[in-house]
Amino acid sequence: MSELAFLNGEFLPLNEARVSVEDRGFQFADGVYEVVRVYNGRAFYLAEHIKRLQRSASKILLSLPHSAEEFASICDELINRSGYKEAVLYIQITRGTAPRKHPFPSADVSPTVVLYIREFKPYPAEWWQNGVDTISLPDERWLNCDIKSISLLPNVLAKEQALRSGAFEALLFRDPDIVTEGSATNVYYIKRKTLFTHPATNLILSGITREVILRLASELGLTVRQEPQPLQRFKSADEVFLSSTTIEILPVRSIDGTLINNGKVPGEFTLKIHQLYKEEINRICGE
Ligand SMILES: Cc1ncc(COP(=O)(O)O)c(C=O)c1O
Repeated sequence: MSELAFLNGEFLPLNEARVSVEDRGFQFADGVYEVVRVYNGRAFYLAEHIKRLQRSASKILLSLPHSAEEFASICDELINRSGYKEAVLYIQITRGTAPRKHPFPSADVSPTVVLYIREFKPYPAEWWQNGVDTISLPDERWLNCDIKSISLLPNVLAKEQALRSGAFEALLFRDPDIVTEGSATNVYYIKRKTLFTHPATNLILSGITREVILRLASELGLTVRQEPQPLQRFKSADEVFLSSTTIEILPVRSIDGTLINNGKVPGEFTLKIHQLYKEEINRICGE
């Protein structure tokens, strides 16, 4: 089993994959990406991730050099060749390599296509048993957060600030106290059997996991309201949780030191939604 990359048409060991210092991803963060979870040797919701990649690329006026079917078969080949059962697939497409000038390069410059697979290392089970701590920070990102752009500096700085204050994640807010999402997660709260989360506007990256969660929450009989909500409502909620491809559904224990539901975490519905999510994984990726 080995970490494996696909770079511009060629499969090679991940540690041998190289791109130019003049790649526009390196120079300008001019590219888009996806992260896909592999369970039991099968990519989960791969078609949806590829669709989002196509949407992101089209929003930055980047034409992808492969069709959805071709991307899917490259992913399958990486999974099969690597031999990993529990893994993470990373996909990144940039506007190619050209002398450093802001305007797009000429049409004969091909995008750089990088995919790679790494084994998934499970996170501490304690995170799900007790929940994780979060802090709130101003959302300093641009107004196109629906594009899964590789330009992640505000996200990286927010995450680092969270970690340095002993928390797992930063919940971002704007105008003046509306919670948008986490630095690398979507965020939700539940109050009296209603689930709230920010609507899928340009202010958030609408997670593939988020879409599944909204459906599962409805199936559980929760009312789902996609509405901008202030930070204080999250702090006084019955339950708060985060989601992403790699953490799935993760309960939040505190925000800025305020315990959620007096520290009685994880909440009933957070657990139920995660249980249904795992059943979905088994149904799609199981034997
Ligand atoms: C800013 C942001 N929001 C939300 C998500 C969750 O998206 P998904 O569920 O598709 O992983 C991510 C994932 O990396 C993210 O970076």
